[in-house]
Amino acid sequence: MIFGVILAGGTGSRMGNMEKPKQFLTVGNKPVIIYTIEKFYANSRFEKVIVLCPNQWINHTQNLVKKNFKNPDKIVVIEGGSTRNETIMNSIRYIEKEYTLDEDTIIVTHDAVRPFVTHRIIEENIDSAIKYGACDTVIPASDTIVEGKDHCFISNIPDRSIMYQGQTPQSFRAKRVKELYESLTEEQKSTLPDACKICVLKGEQVHLVEGEVFNIKITYPYDLRVAETLIKGE
Ligand code: CTP
Repeated sequence: MIFGVILAGGTGSRMGNMEKPKQFLTVGNKPVIIYTIEKFYANSRFEKVIVLCPNQWINHTQNLVKKNFKNPDKIVVIEGGSTRNETIMNSIRYIEKEYTLDEDTIIVTHDAVRPFVTHRIIEENIDSAIKYGACDTVIPASDTIVEGKDHCFISNIPDRSIMYQGQTPQSFRAKRVKELYESLTEEQKSTLPDACKICVLKGEQVHLVEGEVFNIKITYPYDLRVAETLIKGE
């Protein structure tokens, strides 16, 4: 079985003092999270689309789902976790409880705040996760990446031709990624920047799927203005 997993468990602190987490802010004529869910809802390969958000936003999200989707039963809203990876683990625990978690269970995890993901990217994630076990969505780095370990001087300039910028979705065999995550130390868990690193740390291959420059993540107020423009042009 294949599940869409929409990660909406964050508070959007870098957005500044907003009245609600950024995934619930309106862009164009609806909340950001609705654009994102729509992309997953439209894909018939998903058994269910699991949306994870902070506990106090569950009711609100359920109401949004009822209002915006003809078949709200394809979508379930549950509580996210204290970190992004814990949110992913909550989705796997839900699958384990409600369905069966086996080698063929695939999760396509996606930031709620990346509303411009495409059907092609989602399809390639599903195919790649089935074939390789794990995949990440990336675009070639456009700027030269400069490393500065002490935040003062350059410590390295990696070859740009093999550098990529990470996006989402990131997709996994759910059972395997849970096992790998559980085998990490608490310290490793707390310092993991993203879910693919769980596999990388454990020496598992993660296949690269080509993203899109416009598959942006809404992080800062500036990104909201970009999103507004992209939605007008879509
Ligand atoms: N996320 C999540 N659960 C968490 C933390 C983050 O599901 N405990 C989700 C966010 O809701 C977002 C995505 O992961 O859709 C990408 O993370 P980021 O942009 O860092 O979101 P926030 O953590 O909300 O933002 P900030 O770091 O500015 O607080």
